[in-house]
Amino acid sequence: MISEDVIIVGGGLAGLAAALSSDPHLKVAVISKVHPLRSHSVAAQGGINAALGNNPDGKDDNWEKHAFDTIKGSDYLADQDTAELMCEKAISAIYELEHLGVPFSRFPGGVIAQRPFGGAGFPRTCYAADRTGLVILHTLFEQSLRKNVRFYNEWLVTKLVVKDGKCLGVVVYDLATGQIMPVRAKTVIFATGGYGRVYLRTTNAFVNHGSGIGIAYRAGVPLKDMEFVQFHPTSLFPKNILITEGARGEGGYLMNNKGKRFLADYAPSAMELAPRDIVARAIQTEIDKGNGFENQYVRLDLRHLGEEKIKKRLPGIREICIDFAGLDPIETPIPIQPAQHYSMGGIDVDKACVSIVEGFFAAGECACVSIHGANRLGGNSLLDTVVFGKIAGEEASKFVKGSEGVGKSEEILLDCALEVQRRIEGWGKKDSGQKLHLLLNELKVIMSEKVGIFRDKKDLADALERIHALKEDYTRVYLSGKCLRYSQELVNILEFDSMLDLAEVITLGALNREETRGSHYRLDFKKRNDKDWLKHTQVTLKDGKPQVDYKEVMIEKYKPAERKY
Ligand code: FUM
Repeated sequence: MISEDVIIVGGGLAGLAAALSSDPHLKVAVISKVHPLRSHSVAAQGGINAALGNNPDGKDDNWEKHAFDTIKGSDYLADQDTAELMCEKAISAIYELEHLGVPFSRFPGGVIAQRPFGGAGFPRTCYAADRTGLVILHTLFEQSLRKNVRFYNEWLVTKLVVKDGKCLGVVVYDLATGQIMPVRAKTVIFATGGYGRVYLRTTNAFVNHGSGIGIAYRAGVPLKDMEFVQFHPTSLFPKNILITEGARGEGGYLMNNKGKRFLADYAPSAMELAPRDIVARAIQTEIDKGNGFENQYVRLDLRHLGEEKIKKRLPGIREICIDFAGLDPIETPIPIQPAQHYSMGGIDVDKACVSIVEGFFAAGECACVSIHGANRLGGNSLLDTVVFGKIAGEEASKFVKGSEGVGKSEEILLDCALEVQRRIEGWGKKDSGQKLHLLLNELKVIMSEKVGIFRDKKDLADALERIHALKEDYTRVYLSGKCLRYSQELVNILEFDSMLDLAEVITLGALNREETRGSHYRLDFKKRNDKDWLKHTQVTLKDGKPQVDYKEVMIEKYKPAERKY
């Protein structure tokens, strides 16, 4: 049986940051369901925040101002000590990345360039043109190879093995061989990313089913603040590929069908650079009012930026528009609409990335350390991955060195692998039943139509009922292709379990939360209600059912106030 000291699940930025910060004297391995260079971090475009003060308009910036913007942007649901920790560490994190070889864009004179981003008081988003995630991912991957981190690629984790509150390892499906195997580990870090594909319209990669979050939930780890789902204002219509906020940071305008920069009606000071929740709602409102085009999109106009700037700062966006929309933004405005982009909620961990299960850690988008609260600021996601990925690797290494090991775990792990194997055999034995792809499509439609940007009690209750019906239908699924090597059908069946759980937890949290806060907008409760709802939602699986509890928000020096932009 494969046995490692530290198993990191996920080969994106948080996973690789954890691998690099893990003690090199330990046996460290990354399990990734795709090759790490194909993980979703590669799609991050616009940048990573840190108060370097390199932009001439950002001279007065500092990490405290970054922390304040993050907390205000979160609609005061972020834990303030954690937000401060991230923003303080941001500066050294950027220089570490620079020293590892990340080719950031530069200002004349050679300092790292910084551009404005939404909800930020100063231009503090460091970038590499519009391919920031790609260059950081390649750099961290190269560094991980240099440090002899072991990679198990194209392995899908299907189960987190926990016994008596202790994490013992995982069970994997090796896509290349079709085998189900246990992997023993002294500690496991999940860095498995988001769940965007639970929605129909999303900027997320096809791999983002969120199964890591669901697997942790089924192993008894609570999920936190899952009702807060971020919709990015600008995804390319109709493919929903991300069109970076950097395009607005560079000066792009949003226009409705009357030729008006309509953000003037929603966020008169910040305009297109208000936080994402506000801009996404403004766009959707314009479309719903009939001020969009074909009732589906508005336009992002970059033409006034000029050819040179577009080619230099936004080359990827130009390429995407040419390849996927047949237009050149130098000459033609881009059709855009909001799409699911990010999960503020996730696996409940503290600021050391520690969960309630001994030896189990989580970092990056799959985790909820509580920095982003009810709405994440653009540019804080890459930062979250590198800062908390690093912390997770360090903390997991400390845990391994301080622990007595997991004792005789082989038998338990083998039993768990057998259980997964039997489940798969059960699906394979049937020659008819429910086709999974139909359920998958239905779930996406429900989530997009009923648990989207605007929500109300009726829709949420209806969504919950339909998710429960899908759970019933899921018991009848079968595997039509009997070969288990590279079976995408099997991947989908295995992961759908998690998708259903996540959909249920998101919807339940949203139904219960009778207020509007950040990305969670209730048409029937349009105001934020700090008296009753300044608290984190925590959902734990108890006897097969979600149990909802609430947890205090860590408020320090920033008193909750109305957000104005
Ligand atoms: O718009 C973007 O480039 C996305 C950035 C982010 O989600 O942080």
